[in-house]
Amino acid sequence: MREKGFLQKVFESLQEGVLLLDASGGISFINHAGCRFFGTSPEEAQGKALTELVRGVDWSALMQSKRRTVSRDLEVFYPENRYLNFYLSPVAEENEADLGHVMLVRDVTRSRREAEKEMESEKLNALTLLAAGVAHEIGNPLNSLSLHLQLLERKIRDLPEGDQKPLAEHLGTAQSEIGRLDTILKQFLQAMRPTQPERIPTKLHELLEESLEALSPEIKSREIQVKLDLSPELPALELDATQIKQALYNVIRNAYQAVSPPKGHILVQTSVTEYEVTLAISDNGSGISPEAMGSMFEPFKTSKVDGTGLGMLIVRRILREHGGELEVESEEEAGTTVTLYFPRTDKRVRMLEERPPIEV
Ligand SMILES: Nc1ncnc2c1ncn2[C@@H]1O[C@H](COP(=O)(O)OP(=O)(O)O)[C@@H](O)[C@H]1O
Ligand SMILES: [Mg+2]
Repeated sequence: MREKGFLQKVFESLQEGVLLLDASGGISFINHAGCRFFGTSPEEAQGKALTELVRGVDWSALMQSKRRTVSRDLEVFYPENRYLNFYLSPVAEENEADLGHVMLVRDVTRSRREAEKEMESEKLNALTLLAAGVAHEIGNPLNSLSLHLQLLERKIRDLPEGDQKPLAEHLGTAQSEIGRLDTILKQFLQAMRPTQPERIPTKLHELLEESLEALSPEIKSREIQVKLDLSPELPALELDATQIKQALYNVIRNAYQAVSPPKGHILVQTSVTEYEVTLAISDNGSGISPEAMGSMFEPFKTSKVDGTGLGMLIVRRILREHGGELEVESEEEAGTTVTLYFPRTDKRVRMLEERPPIEV
């Protein structure tokens, strides 16, 4: 098995953690970087279940599907506080025999902390302000344009029928282009503006309802079925309602844009565990290729003619500002599930209260 030794050397020289998991989720290989991230040794980890090594993630659920690729950020506290991004991909033989999973782990602590710092850095602030200022200024003439087009629309209606049609077509195009510009501007402004969320106890289900309501014309016109599977026991969460609605709106829009009528459906599920509340939005749309998954959060990267490539970026930022996480799970041609994780603020407070007073 010279080949095995060679591959092992390659894996050991990587900065990324590499784990090979057998069909039952046991660790059959872990490289040095992986050991460093999770504070273990190859001997200790060998044969252990991943659940024992990395707690707080429902690994068996993630590995249940034999065809789905998953990407998620994870905060670990041991052996030191780090943010890791892992990428879990099933390995199957051509005859579909299940060979387990391969997991790649990257340390994103630095880029996350830097991103936080960058937001504060004055240089970026000046640039942000400038860009936001320009974007804002474009908004005014755009509004005025749209108003004038509405006036034109009325005038056209007064014309004889035969003259109306060609003019109405041009008008329709102009109006939809303005709508597009408006969306780009709004999303751009949201992506640029790093506002602190104003968090107050809020019912997540109400925000979900409002977001679905706002999108109902598009959802109806595409004949998409929306199913809800909501937990009756969801605690109130400390949320910035506007921001979370924005996040839900972006994820739901992506979902219905990915499905093709008439068989499109979207499922929204909520659940609660001891330490977090999850809201998962699944669609049976086009799915995302493993390559596209890698660039999903890059700004302006879009697969749509009228996309901005800013939506998911905004969603992730909003979630992180709420102390939460985002997980994207997808299978090409089958569909995508985007899961939002919110920390339970009610629990954390209680935990703090239960601590005995510190004696000096
Ligand atoms: N539910 C989904 N199904 C399929 N592809 C998706 C889904 N959500 C996101 N994507 C992919 O990720 C890309 C980035 O999404 P996003 O940041 O919202 O930008 P936009 O929607 O403007 O393209 C999309 O262009 C699409 O290729
Ligand atoms: Mg989008």
